[in-house]
Amino acid sequence: MSGNKERTFIAVKPDGVQRGLVGEIITRFERKGFKLVGMKHLHAPETLLKQHYIDLKDKPFYPGLVKYMSSGPVVAMVWEGLGIVKTGRVMLGETNPADSKPGTIRGDFCIQVGRNIIHGSDSVESAQKEINLWFKPEELVCYESCQKNWVYE
Ligand code: RTP
Ligand code: MG
Repeated sequence: MSGNKERTFIAVKPDGVQRGLVGEIITRFERKGFKLVGMKHLHAPETLLKQHYIDLKDKPFYPGLVKYMSSGPVVAMVWEGLGIVKTGRVMLGETNPADSKPGTIRGDFCIQVGRNIIHGSDSVESAQKEINLWFKPEELVCYESCQKNWVYE
């Protein structure tokens, strides 16, 4: 995927869902001009979460991270747009909310790294891997947004 069709995987973590922040997070991506192409609300199986965070398997916080992510439902989404992987990470803020600027999602809505409410892919390659892990191809909706020519020149 390139140009306006770049995609990223965003997930509202169990704390974000429990704290009623799903709508707020969707709103931020919508208002920016990005396009929603996939979304599901699920209690993710541990096997999926272990695979999702496989690169962190040797970190001391990995077992706690998997437990946290399994502690309730998550809202998994695929969003599309120009430069969305990088811009999405900027919108999320730093991994540790204490380092996140006001105006970012983590800067505005959370305090601790272990309860940082949202996940976003960190590269185009990991976005592709994560989208394939969480979604079947037929779960991604193909449509043209009526905003396209107003968001892009
Ligand atoms: P994410 O993958 O969830 O979007 O977060 P990230 O890229 O900003 O950070 P990453 O290094 O991938 O870490 C994944 C998640 O693990 C938890 N974490 N805890 N206790 C700790 O020191 C620690 N460090 C990371 C966070 O929930 C982080 O988002
Ligand atoms: Mg990460």
